[in-house]
Amino acid sequence: MHSYILAIILVLTGMFLWQWFSTLVRRKKLPPGPIPLPIIGSIHLLGNLPHRALHKLSQKYGPIMSIRLGFIQFVIVSSPEAAKLFLGNHDAVFASRPNTEVAKYLSYGKKGMTFTEYGPYWRSVRKFCAVELLSVTKINSFAGMRREEIRLMMEELRDASMARKVVDLGETVGAVIEGMTCRMIFGKKNDNMPFMKRVLDETMEVAGAFNLADYVPMLAAFDLQGLTKRLKLLKKDIDEMFDTLINEHEKCGLIGSQRPDEMDFIDILLSLKHQYSHTHDELSYTIDRSSMKAILLEMVAGALDTTKTSVEWILAALIKHPRLQDGMSPSDLDMKEKFGLTIPRIKPLLAIPT
Ligand code: HEM
Repeated sequence: MHSYILAIILVLTGMFLWQWFSTLVRRKKLPPGPIPLPIIGSIHLLGNLPHRALHKLSQKYGPIMSIRLGFIQFVIVSSPEAAKLFLGNHDAVFASRPNTEVAKYLSYGKKGMTFTEYGPYWRSVRKFCAVELLSVTKINSFAGMRREEIRLMMEELRDASMARKVVDLGETVGAVIEGMTCRMIFGKKNDNMPFMKRVLDETMEVAGAFNLADYVPMLAAFDLQGLTKRLKLLKKDIDEMFDTLINEHEKCGLIGSQRPDEMDFIDILLSLKHQYSHTHDELSYTIDRSSMKAILLEMVAGALDTTKTSVEWILAALIKHPRLQDGMSPSDLDMKEKFGLTIPRIKPLLAIPT
């Protein structure tokens, strides 16, 4: 028994010393940054608000700093000039993303654009998404739908205001954005579809969670936070949701016969699957159900939290600083000019009782 304990202590001490030694050797080649602790690295420095903690650290170590989180070495770039170097001059080197647990379970074998490695498929899938799904023409074709959703939200806010009800703007804006996103991608809203709503909420929660296994990979097998179990269940639900949606679109039998401005993202992906396309060579050969699902999931996950959070932050900034410039109130603010939003200014911006 004692010899087992001794062996474990020796192995752990060996690991500890090896990690400590290799860190010291590697640190000489890395940009400046905090000295990491064994095993956890500098995870303890992130606190509850990692963006603020990293900002503070960057003020101490500079716009290009290194930080080890668990076993993974990161380089944090935090000035526009440095970001240009990494994302512009050396973009090909940094184009691939790390293998995270979320990627393992939800990327459909890296068939979308987010987790696929840099190469011909990476180029093909990105070109397809930029040209066919996110082009100005395509996004403009949904303008009527967006206007309709905003009108409905304004009516809801006006009714609430007349009834002197308090409105949770974050929730209201979130619901509108979810509705618009689902209509654009799936062709229908998720408000009367509890299963879809639950699956999307769970996706955003699990995909955004801090997963210890991404930083200390040897802990992955233990699933200490229960996230792997949730990811496995979620993968099944996502599959079921997409199968239902794709089957419904296929059953409609309209593929290829709709006007381009009537097609949602599933229609467009199905039309590529059914017609050989020279424009997207690499993808046309490989597009199948799983690549469709991978792209659809990335679109919906990419669209929801980012857009909701941006609008919420803009509203919070307006509420906290109602007088933006001399004599200017929120209702005078030109959202397009100030925030680059393509929606016209809505007057009044907020309709809640005081
Ligand atoms: C205000 C809203 C948005 C913000 C602030 C935002 C921000 C970002 C950022 C910072 C990235 C990472 C870029 C990188 O790593 O190089 C990203 C990637 C991505 N976004 Fe957005 N985004 C927004 C809206 C959207 C919308 C509406 C969609 C879909 C319709 C979308 C889909 C995606 C996808 C699929 C990726 C991954 C692409 C890749 O791997 O390069 N995003 N977004």
